[in-house]
Amino acid sequence: MNILFIGDIVGKPGRTALQNQLPNLKRQYQADLTIVNGENAAHGKGITKNIYQQILDWGADIVTLGNHAWDKREIFDFIDDAHQLVRPGNYPEGTPGTGLQFYKVGSKKVAVINIQGRTFMNPIDDPFTVVDHLIEKAKNETNVIFVDFHAEATSEKQAMGWYLDGKASVVVGTHTHIQTSDERILPNKTAYITDVGMTGPYNSILGVEKEAVIRKFKTGLPVRFDIPETDQTVLSGVVAKVDPKTGEGKNIKRILINDDHLNFE
Ligand SMILES: [Fe+2]
Ligand SMILES: [Fe+2]
Repeated sequence: MNILFIGDIVGKPGRTALQNQLPNLKRQYQADLTIVNGENAAHGKGITKNIYQQILDWGADIVTLGNHAWDKREIFDFIDDAHQLVRPGNYPEGTPGTGLQFYKVGSKKVAVINIQGRTFMNPIDDPFTVVDHLIEKAKNETNVIFVDFHAEATSEKQAMGWYLDGKASVVVGTHTHIQTSDERILPNKTAYITDVGMTGPYNSILGVEKEAVIRKFKTGLPVRFDIPETDQTVLSGVVAKVDPKTGEGKNIKRILINDDHLNFE
């Protein structure tokens, strides 16, 4: 079973890149299941019902979120009825939405879990304890388990990868918006990458207008972050092969598509 995952969609450029490229990517990698992180899909901050629906219409089966999940207030109106939407599962008890959704691929169920780190982020509930509970719940239904760990620190993401080695089929990191080149199959057959990277404006800083970010670093003053309007984009993702019988990760490959074709000669 091939699981295609596309990293954080940032604003309109990210949405356009997804809409234009997803059908081809699904074909090229023979994706059985497509998961998209949509936490920045609405102008970098959160997601609307409309955009959630669009991402599904363009070919995603499940949309995951992150710390920006709550930036558009309308999320609270639709998250509980959105059965293809997952938010980090370690927000405190009583938070709307869920950190675990199931999706049927043929006769096989796949569990998709979203969880958020705590290092250099809001100190919500312990992701390691919560992920144990979610995996236990998932295991009652399936052994194919996909985890999007939305976290800042590479160390926390590596820790989660190793912690879940042999328990999850795939563990991908999101949130830092820069793709890491450490994709691998861990010894107990979990496919892992520290960060998938983002999908959005190419000439930007993590998807945001670069001038504003530089100004913020230079002055230390509050700056309004905007998403540049551009058709030069980067699309970041991974495709992972999972054995549907055993739930073992078999292969993982990075996807990075931008306009640069650099050759070193
Ligand atoms: Fe993000
Ligand atoms: Fe994030």
